[in-house]
Amino acid sequence: MAKKVVVISSSPRKGGNSDTLCDEFVKGAKEAGNDAVKYFLEEIEFDSCKACMRCKTPERECYQEDQISIILDDMMEADVIVYATPIYYYEMTGTLKMFFDRCYPIFNYLEDKDYYIITAVGSSNGDALTGIRSFIGFSKNPTEKAVFTVVGDAKSQPDVLKEVYDAGFNC
Ligand SMILES: Cc1cc2nc3c(=O)[nH]c(=O)nc-3n(C[C@H](O)[C@H](O)[C@H](O)COP(=O)(O)O)c2cc1C
Repeated sequence: MAKKVVVISSSPRKGGNSDTLCDEFVKGAKEAGNDAVKYFLEEIEFDSCKACMRCKTPERECYQEDQISIILDDMMEADVIVYATPIYYYEMTGTLKMFFDRCYPIFNYLEDKDYYIITAVGSSNGDALTGIRSFIGFSKNPTEKAVFTVVGDAKSQPDVLKEVYDAGFNC
């Protein structure tokens, strides 16, 4: 059965290293007949979570009217979620963290999802996976399927591209 796949790409560099791997994952997933979408956060205008707690009332709605609510709806319906980030100072990007904060309406309602993590580094992830895994760990019954890390220029590493394409194809 076709799966719904949501990919969150948090580099500012469209077509950069992590974003290239996101595209490979989406390509593989689509060519296997799945419904896959990538959100490139840098092109989406959104503000930080204001901690107003309105999303914790019975309506569970964020008062901010932007595209984030569409992404969160998609994530709720997804079978597979991919978080992708370049590593900055051994952490995820500020953009991905700001997005995770905006997930406050749904973070603990996400249930039975398969997760993939994509990172791009100059040399090392350091402890960067800890924060991403913590966020995933707040969801219900998560399964971490794989972590892909590319060192340097992704486009010149066909083996890495294929590995990520195959993961998308077989997700
Ligand atoms: C602000 C900043 C901080 C960085 N910190 C690290 C780091 O801690 N470790 C590392 O290996 N690379 C670091 N890098 C290098 C990037 O992770 C690397 O260039 C990566 O391939 C960029 O991915 P992208 O093309 O997906 O944006 C840093 C780059 C920037 C701009």
